[in-house]
Amino acid sequence: PPFSPRRRRFLRAGAGLLGTGLLPLPLRALAASPGEVRRLHPAPAAWRLGGDAHPPVDVWAYEGTVPGPVLRVRQGERLRVRVDNGLDEPTSVHWHGLRLPNAMDGVPGVTQAPIAPGAAFDYAFHAVDAGTFWYHPHIRSEQQVGRGLYGALIVEEREPPAVDGEWLWVLDDWRITREGQLAAFGNWHDRSHGGRVGNWTTVNGTPPAEHALHRGERVRLRLVNAANARIFGLRFGGHRPWLMALDGHPVPPRRLDADEPMVLGPGMRADLFLDGEAHEPGSGHEVFDAFAREATAPVARLRYAAPRREAAPGEPAPLPANPVPEPDLARAERHEITLDGGAMGNIDALTIDGRPAGMRLIRETGLMWGINGVAAGGHHLPPALTLARGAHVRLRLRNNTAWPHPMHLHGHAFRVLTRNDAPVPDRPWQDTVLLDRRETAEVAFVADNPGDWMFHCHILEHQAAGMMTLLRVA
Ligand code: C2O
Ligand code: CU
Repeated sequence: PPFSPRRRRFLRAGAGLLGTGLLPLPLRALAASPGEVRRLHPAPAAWRLGGDAHPPVDVWAYEGTVPGPVLRVRQGERLRVRVDNGLDEPTSVHWHGLRLPNAMDGVPGVTQAPIAPGAAFDYAFHAVDAGTFWYHPHIRSEQQVGRGLYGALIVEEREPPAVDGEWLWVLDDWRITREGQLAAFGNWHDRSHGGRVGNWTTVNGTPPAEHALHRGERVRLRLVNAANARIFGLRFGGHRPWLMALDGHPVPPRRLDADEPMVLGPGMRADLFLDGEAHEPGSGHEVFDAFAREATAPVARLRYAAPRREAAPGEPAPLPANPVPEPDLARAERHEITLDGGAMGNIDALTIDGRPAGMRLIRETGLMWGINGVAAGGHHLPPALTLARGAHVRLRLRNNTAWPHPMHLHGHAFRVLTRNDAPVPDRPWQDTVLLDRRETAEVAFVADNPGDWMFHCHILEHQAAGMMTLLRVA
């Protein structure tokens, strides 16, 4: 096969990676001056997902690159982006994780009209929260994101932490055919099971690379999972990074345990600090996806390099908190949402278009997942919850299915309080919570952002097959 993990070679980071956002140059140089309008042009492109050793693959890309350009902005600044559609089908851009006005959220049919082929749409909003975010289309996402339309959106802290370098790894997972092209989309098995899990992993649109870590230095690693369906569990091979932020929002710094995987469901992000430790120069660690069932090549390799300084950096100070309103649990209203359907699940408990789901209706509509028993599709997107603006909300999410689901709420961040009724340490702020099969989690937030907000599974085949709804803040 043209793409064989066994034949993978490590690239040296910085060589041949221009335009991938992986460069060790001062990334801030890519930030536009305030007020500048940036452009995103989604269009078909050819991209070397397999590196120089393999022929290019037909993808869809922003500005011709996978991922699209890294958008960087300083917290509090206004970001202006003109999207002009070079695809043969309508599109939009959603700014995943950003708390912004509803009209800028990029959900066709809910917050805006789709951007027709050849047409343009102007997005403008303030970056309220610092952190690692990303952008992608929100229409036919399983195809548009799955073909390569996504990019990182980085909001720098007003006073960024002192680090020696910054790496950005946007992870993706592709299904490549023997001919070296993307496999056809819309596979029935993917929709009803775990989504379109691929056979080829890329970091910033290219095969794995090697990264030099100097003793005594500290590197900030921003991770984004842009895959349709793959849940990554990155294991750093004995290296113990500091976990600094989840979904853009700071957590009290803690070191991952030696074997603890950094779990990232689709849509999720994490910020880590990697410290160069005392190792033989030239030795290194391989970063693996511990969850991959097939034998895969490493996602990256850390190579220890000559000391930059002798003293190791000490325990990092927490990143500055974002101005997310704190839910008052004592007076929070309680709600419950269930996730239903799918293979080996309660698919016959669903309703589709108000009718009980039967095999015929499922085949006709392609819908087989639901929220509160309702499989959403077409024009049938009733809000699962209507919340008064300013309400403090404690939401129990119950996964009644045999599959994990990364559930994403637009326009807000929530604290994850419990999992299967056990308290979650530090109650992290997230915008996407990964629910394991049959798992229950409780989240809490203040519904302070008016509008209709999508709440959906970020396994994009599940979303397409009905696992989405709206939370209305009125
Ligand atoms: Cu990242 Cu509704 O999406
Ligand atoms: Cu799902």
